[in-house]
Amino acid sequence: IKKIAVLTSGGDAPGMNAAVRAVVRSSVYYNLDVYGIYKGYDGLINGDIEQLQVRSVSNILSRGGTFLLSARSDEFRTKEGRAKAYKNFKANDLDALVVIGGDGSFTGADVFSQEYDVPVLGIPGTIDNDLAGTDFTIGYDTACNTATEAIDKIRDTASSHERLFFVEVMGRDAGFIAVNSGISGGAVAMLLPEHNWGIDDLIRRLQRGASSEKASNIVIVAEGCKLGSAYDIAAKVKTQLDYFDIRVTVLGHLQRGGSPTTSDRVLASRLGVAAVEGLLNGQSNVMVGVVNSNVVYTPINEAVKTIKKIDAEEFRIAKILSI
Ligand code: F6P
Repeated sequence: IKKIAVLTSGGDAPGMNAAVRAVVRSSVYYNLDVYGIYKGYDGLINGDIEQLQVRSVSNILSRGGTFLLSARSDEFRTKEGRAKAYKNFKANDLDALVVIGGDGSFTGADVFSQEYDVPVLGIPGTIDNDLAGTDFTIGYDTACNTATEAIDKIRDTASSHERLFFVEVMGRDAGFIAVNSGISGGAVAMLLPEHNWGIDDLIRRLQRGASSEKASNIVIVAEGCKLGSAYDIAAKVKTQLDYFDIRVTVLGHLQRGGSPTTSDRVLASRLGVAAVEGLLNGQSNVMVGVVNSNVVYTPINEAVKTIKKIDAEEFRIAKILSI
């Protein structure tokens, strides 16, 4: 392997820049040429590719977003799109591709790698933390900290008015941000895509709090909760507990921005170096992750298809503490 390319794809995540920096600098360290592909797979399809140098990635370690830009490419989902991408891959004499992204990006990487026998190495970059083969994904810690900070602020106003707040956090298919920020923000309940909590369970919990003079209540709703959006759930609760003064806050894309935390920067740096070293050691079509503090390589389709479970112990703790 002499020439590798790196792209960021899907929803951006704080720490993606730190990961690109690590890929670029470790490539230079190992005497490889390294290329940046702009706008995810769209850039590979359109030939938006340029060589990066050590100094191309100066001063990006602390910045949120991704300087390579990102996209959810519809064209790459088609055979024709991937054929164009491969043409550009070959035209630039590239030997391997590093993809920083989440499950959608890795599904594309897996198909591309099998169709054209291209060595692909995935680095988990998504705030959702929903990839198996790594304890944490890049951006998750920062997103949780952002959500916690927001919940703390909401708590101030919720307590002052003795209100019940429903705070919706991101996580289309996974409740990791909800559980984590729920524990750290002292939520009375967390409603997750993974759990089958009914409205009645929630009502009972809120009634119990009210009977013990709980002054402020914050319920965290993960975006993908099956009971509906935070607004839907708030409306349902209002019909049964009309004594609560209810407000709803949707945190939305706020959670995707901001300077990465120390943990995310360290994780991104570690995974970026491990990605390049993995390729040099013959790894292909795998995702690099950190499990129990060790670097591990997992087949990319396994990382996508295996459902990563919410830590039951975390959920148990949340239940004990939220009375
Ligand atoms: O995958 C990251 C994520 O932020 C999810 O939590 C959310 O459901 C989705 O992306 C939002 O995507 P978009 O920015 O394309 O609206």
